[in-house]
Amino acid sequence: MRRAALECPSLENSMAKSTRYKPKSKNKAQESIRTLISREKIQRRIAEMAQEIRRDFPTEALHLVGVLKGSVFFLTDLARQMSGDISLDFIAVSSYGNRTETSGEVKLTRDLDSSIEGKTVIVVEDILDTGMTLQYLLRVFEQRKPRGIRVAVLLDKPERRLAKVRADYVGFTIPNEFVVGYGLDYAERYRNLCDVGVLSLGKKEKR
Ligand code: IMP
Ligand code: MG
Repeated sequence: MRRAALECPSLENSMAKSTRYKPKSKNKAQESIRTLISREKIQRRIAEMAQEIRRDFPTEALHLVGVLKGSVFFLTDLARQMSGDISLDFIAVSSYGNRTETSGEVKLTRDLDSSIEGKTVIVVEDILDTGMTLQYLLRVFEQRKPRGIRVAVLLDKPERRLAKVRADYVGFTIPNEFVVGYGLDYAERYRNLCDVGVLSLGKKEKR
């Protein structure tokens, strides 16, 4: 039986025929978003990434560790494209707060539920920016004696890198722009958009 396609908030739905989304609320009226990566492209690339990971680990049980909250949509879509034995866990670290610039400080705010000792861990992140978050997490995880660790990120912004870290699986390499959607937020908003778009803050621009 054919199932209806999942309804998902999009820039296009919210924008009538324009290509820019303008929030209705007064204090957000300056914000607009331009689509950078469409939902179709995202889904196609995630299916490829799942195959790339399985090619490297054809038979192994894989433990996907998502970094909350930005990775939730990426992790759940990636996990459902993967064959074989898959388990999931989540960790949370402090984020940017309500700004578009990082403080450079990383703090663990929610730990994993279970031990990763002896497991093959795939760290799943929404975006690799300065690399401070990933550098911190990899240090924490390596001390816990996993069998191996790989990193999968949906987006990579190499221009902004400060820490010496790299991802093993990258969905899309993007320019130095602040993006929202598909898990990525600005002040906790826009995570539920199915596409990834570049946010402009208008007059309030901070970067
Ligand atoms: P990093 O520690 O600078 O690599 O940043 C990683 C985290 O910062 C990501 O997991 C995101 O939560 C957040 N972040 C970095 N760039 C962006 C962006 O363009 N939009 C939204 N969040 C971002
Ligand atoms: Mg994040």
